[in-house]
Amino acid sequence: MKWVIGNWKSNGAWSQNEALLVALKALVCENTRVGVCVPFPYLAQAQRMLQESKVLWGAQNVSPFGPGAYTGEVHAEMLCDFGCRLTIVGHSERRQYFGETNAQIAEKIQRLNAVAITPIWCVGETLEERERGAWQDVLRQQIVEVVEIVGAAAVENVLIAYEPVWAIGTGRNATPEDVAAAHGWLRTVLSEVGARSDLPILYGGSVKGGNAAELFTVEGCDGGLIGGASLSAMEFAAIVAAA
Ligand code: G3H
Repeated sequence: MKWVIGNWKSNGAWSQNEALLVALKALVCENTRVGVCVPFPYLAQAQRMLQESKVLWGAQNVSPFGPGAYTGEVHAEMLCDFGCRLTIVGHSERRQYFGETNAQIAEKIQRLNAVAITPIWCVGETLEERERGAWQDVLRQQIVEVVEIVGAAAVENVLIAYEPVWAIGTGRNATPEDVAAAHGWLRTVLSEVGARSDLPILYGGSVKGGNAAELFTVEGCDGGLIGGASLSAMEFAAIVAAA
């Protein structure tokens, strides 16, 4: 079973979303689990449009706190009110622009677990880290620091998304060999820390209709987390068809 999950990032407008969600709802997803992570203001729209379909929806972030005096935060129970089944944590854009740490990601995973929303836990190295040969250390640290806090049992039901930062929005996707090596390494590290090494691991980074089949058939690749191409109904449908 493959997963194809769209991440709209900070894109969308009420009127445009309507057409995209209609197209999503019409997707045939018999052997593929399809989902979409939308900006907070559009969760109600996604819920209304997708609730009769097999397509799952969710958010792109969650507060590391519960209810309380945390101005601007959206806590996990709120996501339940909008029927979210999935939510992204630790996306590289949140690490890069908002200083999200592995400790915060650990807290967010626990908050989502508590309300039975599946965390999509993003990991990945930067170009600089890859070029100096540190990608394995970086991935190991991203996994180990979280599991040390939450424990292996807390990551039993997560989806992992391997997203090399140099492939995100650049048009330069990782090669099938890169994906095989990274996913294999992540499974080794998961096993070392006592976590499930057979967790679904999605690839994210410049996936398009034209390269999805090649990437998704890599051993150990369970589908994709799709950014830019999830904003086009045709492109996203082509990716789902390739899964
Ligand atoms: O969450 C999705 C990833 O950041 C990939 O984005 O498909 O636009 O490269 P992209």
